[in-house]
Amino acid sequence: MREINASIPFDKALWRQDIAASQAHVAMLATQGIVSAADADAISGGLATIAGEYAEHGVPEDWSLEDIHMTTESRLATLIGPTAGRLHTARSRNDQVATDFRLWVRDACDEALANLAALQRALVERAGEHTESIMPGFTHLQTAQPVTLGHHLLAYYEMAARDVSRFAAARARMNECPLGAAALAGTGFPIDRRATAAALGFDRPTANSLDSVSDRDFALDYLMAASQCALHLSRLAEEFIIWASQPFGFVTLPDSLSTGSSIMPQKKNPDAAELVRGHSGRIIGALTSLMITMKGLPLAYSKDMQDDKPPVFEAAGLLTLCLAAMTGMVAGATFRTPRMRQAAELGYATATDLADWLVREAGIPFREAHHITGAAVKLAESRGVALDKLELSELQAIDARIDARVFAALSVEASVASRSSYGGTAPSEVCLRVADARVALGLEG
Ligand code: ARG
Repeated sequence: MREINASIPFDKALWRQDIAASQAHVAMLATQGIVSAADADAISGGLATIAGEYAEHGVPEDWSLEDIHMTTESRLATLIGPTAGRLHTARSRNDQVATDFRLWVRDACDEALANLAALQRALVERAGEHTESIMPGFTHLQTAQPVTLGHHLLAYYEMAARDVSRFAAARARMNECPLGAAALAGTGFPIDRRATAAALGFDRPTANSLDSVSDRDFALDYLMAASQCALHLSRLAEEFIIWASQPFGFVTLPDSLSTGSSIMPQKKNPDAAELVRGHSGRIIGALTSLMITMKGLPLAYSKDMQDDKPPVFEAAGLLTLCLAAMTGMVAGATFRTPRMRQAAELGYATATDLADWLVREAGIPFREAHHITGAAVKLAESRGVALDKLELSELQAIDARIDARVFAALSVEASVASRSSYGGTAPSEVCLRVADARVALGLEG
C-alpha cells in the first residue's frame, strides 16, 4: 500500500506552491479569527523555515508520509508542536492539491509563453534577413512554385502566434482558486475565499466546491496547448531534417545542435531536431494519458487523479527543451541560399507563371493556358532545360500568341515578385509581414 499510495517521489515538485498556499490559508484563518494571531505566526514561521530547508536540502522522500502535503505538515509538527495541526482547519488535501497544481501549471504557461516569444523573435529575425531569398515551395513535397525563405519562416511564426494565444487563454481560464472547497462540499468555518484567491494571484475563487476538487481541465488545457505547440515544433524540426540532408543541402545546422557518428567520420546528424520530433509524441501522449485518467471519474475527488502530475511534469520539461532546441536551430542555422535558389529552378516551378501570363497578356482562358503550359513543360523536359531557356520560336510553335515578353515572367525572381497578394510570398509583402510581426512582438518603437 505504501508503494502504490505514495506520490511524494513526484509531487515534491509542488513544494513551493504548497508552502505559498498554506501561507495564504493561515493568514486568512487568522484574519477571520479562526486561529489566533499567535498560532498563525508560529505556523507561518515554521512554514518559512521548512521552505528554507527544502530549498537548501531538497524535499525528504519518506513514502509513509505519502505526499508533499503530509510531508510538510509532519515537519511543521516537529518544528512547532501540536499547533501545526491548526493549519489544516477548513481545508482538505483535495482543495490543497488542486490549488498547488493550478499554481504550478499557471507558471508552466508563463514559461511556455516566454519561450514561445523567444522562438518568434528568432523566426522574425531570420525571416527579415531572407525576404528575398528564393527557395522551392512544395506541395506533396514536390516542387510547386518558388517562394521566399522569409515567407516560409513566417508560416511558423503564425503557428507560434496561435500557440501563444492558446497558452494565454488556458492561463486566463485556469486562474480561479479552488482553496476553500475543502474535501468536496465547502466548509462551515467562516473563511474568506476571495482573500486567499487574491493572495495567490488568482482572479477569483472557483464557484462550485465539487468541481473545484475534481476539475483537471486546467491541466488538460495546458497539455492541449503544449501538444499543439509540440506538433508545430515537430513539423519545423522535420523541415530542418529534410533541408539538412545531402540531396537537399538547403541548410547547415549549428554544430552545437548536431552530433557526429561514432563510426562514420563524415556524418553530422540532426539529433536535436530528431529528438524534438520524437519528444512531441511524448507530449501528445501526456495529453492522451490524462484524458484517459479523467474520463471515467464520477464527482468528486478520486485517487486516480493523483496520476495527473507525472504527465504534466514530463510534458512541461520536454516542451521547454523542444522550444529551446528549435529557437537555437532557427537562430543558428546557416541557410545555403544559392543552393535553395538553384533548387527552385528545378521542377518547372514557374509553369503557373507561364499559364498566368497567357491569361493576362494573351487573353487565353486559364484552362487552355494550363494545357499550353503543359506542352511547354513537356518540351523543356525532353530538352533537359528550364522553361525560360526554351527558344521563343519553340514556344511560338506551341502557341503563336506567345511573344518575347513572356521571358520576363518566367524567372523565379519574377515569379515570387508577382505574388504580392496579402499574405503572399513576394519580397515586398514578406517585408510588410515582418514589420507587422516586429510590432506585435514589441521589437519596434
Ligand atoms: N496526493 C494526493 C494527490 O496528489 C493528494 C490528495 C489526496 N486526497 C485524498 N483524499 N486522499 O491527488
